[in-house]
Amino acid sequence: MEEQFRFGIIGSGVISEYHAQAIKAQPNGKIVAISDIVRESADKFATKYNCEVIDDWQKMITRDDIDAVCVCTPTGLHAQQSIAAAKAGKHILVEKTMAIKLKDATEMIHVARDNGVKLGVIYQKRTEEAPNIIKTAIKEGVFGKLIFGDASIKYWRNQAYYDSAEWRGTWVHEGGGSSITQGSHGIDLLLYMMGDVEKIYAKIDTVAHINIEVEDIAIAILTYKNGAYGRLQTASATNPGQGNVFDINGTLGTVVLVEDKITSWAVSDSKETLAKETITGIKGKASTAASSATEFPIEGHIIQVKNLISAVRTGEELICSGEEGRRSLQLIAALYESARRGEEVYLDELL
Ligand SMILES: NC(=O)c1ccc[n+]([C@@H]2O[C@H](COP(=O)([O-])OP(=O)(O)OC[C@H]3O[C@@H](n4cnc5c(N)ncnc54)[C@H](O)[C@@H]3O)[C@@H](O)[C@H]2O)c1
Repeated sequence: MEEQFRFGIIGSGVISEYHAQAIKAQPNGKIVAISDIVRESADKFATKYNCEVIDDWQKMITRDDIDAVCVCTPTGLHAQQSIAAAKAGKHILVEKTMAIKLKDATEMIHVARDNGVKLGVIYQKRTEEAPNIIKTAIKEGVFGKLIFGDASIKYWRNQAYYDSAEWRGTWVHEGGGSSITQGSHGIDLLLYMMGDVEKIYAKIDTVAHINIEVEDIAIAILTYKNGAYGRLQTASATNPGQGNVFDINGTLGTVVLVEDKITSWAVSDSKETLAKETITGIKGKASTAASSATEFPIEGHIIQVKNLISAVRTGEELICSGEEGRRSLQLIAALYESARRGEEVYLDELL
């Protein structure tokens, strides 16, 4: 039997369940230990997944019987915990968003590299079929020269969601609101498909929640490095949530992606056959967290856990490396900086 790949998990909240289930789904995956500042929560997790509780995560990451650490804590802790785990020689699978500050994300990447460990960032929507079809088609020029790459990431989170944990809705622990938390997946996918953004002009506001410091809506104009323009909207205030809607237009065609389904694919005559065949290949399955933070499919986490193990054992390329995870954070950081300054911001200013 293949040697076990042993995980420690930090944080036993909502997303830890996805990591635990995904590890359990691997033939060689083992959960060794859980760590959480709330002992009761860790105990519950440990009973369910038959693992040890280690109160201090710093002790957990030095254990010899752990190969990798899943970082499932509030976003503001990701950098510190990932860097410490890398220094202890553990591979890392950190939840999105990988850090709050861009310089911390850069440090995470460097420390992982210097210590010879893999750093994977969970962006499970990258594993879906439709965005990969679009990414390939864009690369092959199916839509011609890109004109617009728009993303509407309109979610709903009720007040109880923000009230459920002290870290939510704060700049210091969450790093922002609808853009860094709900918008993070869609922004990652937008860049994954369209390529990087050169500059951004953004506005943010808080319109539907009380007692939160951060934005629950954002709107921005993007200029891509490839010359295309884009409109980006994020929200945790639109009820019910509409989820992720992407509109991509080029000189030869248009594609619309709604959550994980391509709902429209119109291209010039010469490419139409290819497009029809491509569309037929898409399997439909709802994959939305548009109105709830706890209801979305597990498949992406299973694939990313498997990918981390393969990256360590066989050198397989990570689905989302630290460098890749940093791309959306750079855009999000620039969005907040633009909103703060009231002017357009070049992303490369924020290195
Ligand atoms: N990939 C996705 O689709 C997805 C979905 C939800 C959340 N997330 C991300 O996962 C992270 C956690 O979100 P969540 O919804 O699970 O939050 P949560 O509040 O439900 O869980 C966080 C857990 O971390 C624990 N914790 C806090 N400080 C700690 C510390 N110093 N040491 C150990 N444990 C500590 C808390 O007690 C809590 O149990 C966030 O970064 C969020 O953006 C990703």
